Amino acid sequence: MRFDFDSVTRRRLGYHLIDQIDAFFSSLPDRPVQLPLEQRSYGALYDPLPESGEDPRRVLDEICREMVDKGFHVPSANYFGLMNPTSTYMGVLAEALVAALNPQLATLARSQLASKIEMETVRWIGERVGWPGDFNGTFTSGGNEANFSGLALALASSFPESVEEGVASIGAQPVVYASAEAHHSLDKSAGLLGIGRKGLRRIAVNEAAQLDPRRLDEAIREDRAAGRKPFCVVATAGTTNSGTVDDLSAISEVCKRHNLWLHVDGAYGAGAIFSDQHRDLVRGIEQADSLTLDPHKWLAVPFAAGAILTSHPEILERTFAVAAPYMPKAAGARLPDNARISTQWTRRMNSLKLWLTLRVHGRKGYEELIDQQLKLTSSFAKWVETSDEFELAVPPTLPIITFRLKSSGLNPQQLAALHENIVDEVTRDGSRWISETEVTGHSVLRMMVISYLTEERHLQALETALTNALKRLNFRIQTGA
Ligand SMILES: Cc1ncc(COP(=O)(O)O)c(C=O)c1O
Repeated sequence: MRFDFDSVTRRRLGYHLIDQIDAFFSSLPDRPVQLPLEQRSYGALYDPLPESGEDPRRVLDEICREMVDKGFHVPSANYFGLMNPTSTYMGVLAEALVAALNPQLATLARSQLASKIEMETVRWIGERVGWPGDFNGTFTSGGNEANFSGLALALASSFPESVEEGVASIGAQPVVYASAEAHHSLDKSAGLLGIGRKGLRRIAVNEAAQLDPRRLDEAIREDRAAGRKPFCVVATAGTTNSGTVDDLSAISEVCKRHNLWLHVDGAYGAGAIFSDQHRDLVRGIEQADSLTLDPHKWLAVPFAAGAILTSHPEILERTFAVAAPYMPKAAGARLPDNARISTQWTRRMNSLKLWLTLRVHGRKGYEELIDQQLKLTSSFAKWVETSDEFELAVPPTLPIITFRLKSSGLNPQQLAALHENIVDEVTRDGSRWISETEVTGHSVLRMMVISYLTEERHLQALETALTNALKRLNFRIQTGA
């Protein structure tokens, strides 16, 4: 079958797909997250490579049905998940438009308006961060790439020669610091940048699971005394496990004292900059030399959309710029080509979904979303606090609750096993999803409110599911009695 469908076919398929997407969206407030346990499978598909094509409507129907019926649905209101949202509908439409127009963001000469929209979106984010001076940045595929870029910027800022000569030219081990709770993308990035994973020093956290500034200061002094070269601290605004926000102002003081670059990994939590009421959750974020923010987390746009911004825009080109004869030139351009400030060359327009969502819902849409999710989690936290069986593990800051069984008689392995059993029970029928993880090395149950469709009734159903899970497990609190 040829690729150039006629207009009738394009419209027929397009409207049909929109109907399917609409039905899916209508089902989300009550949709199970996944199939019941006994029906789930994780194997490969073994269909042969299609030699000639099939009827597009039939294939589209089949794949929509299969993906909806058998998929794992992070957009469900019952997904109390990791940081994956229900997409805004404007975000969905933006994705279709971007796929159709396929703007190439590598260079200004070929993207023009698409680049202007991206730069405007970056400006909107940077203005909300509140940097006093210049800033710039770029969209990324997500937080991994943004954190990688942040460390690359820090390295190029501290050791400019390393961009051309490599990290060996630094003459000693460069060291970057992050809390024991910081995201694993930092380990990957340190390895890939040649710093080495061992060049990432994990600093112990305090009781609230925050990076301890005093221990950080000590570690920097130790490393300097041992001849190593500290150059960057990563503070997290919204850890993956517990949503903890490090004390950004205190860490920034340590960075200033030792002349180190401060990268803030706000992949999730930096979304709070869009709230006037809750901006304080990330107080001090404007001290960051660079910042990761993933619109595909709290800002509810479809994957993939991350962003890296810096208050030292000149370092972007120092880090990423290369020249090649085939790069089209835009006569009179006063802005750097995207490829000169990004790890990527061919680049998708990941900004439009946030730009369109902001145009339609405004910042106030996010103000409401953030407030609604914080209220819901505080109501769930109250339920935990008044429960006979559970207790909070870490005081919640963002819409993530970590909690555990009150279990004085259990050892850590038994407690972790029980938590896993509870998760299995709660998720067995597929209706809803929570997880088990570790905070400060201890097993916890974890739930977060991430869908804008989640309401109080979904939390009540989760509370009932947790209570029933305990009954089924026949759990008795070990009171020592
Ligand atoms: C704190 C934090 N940073 C970075 C990342 C990586 O982001 P992404 O999955 O978009 O690459 C995550 C992912 O959950 C995260 O929680």
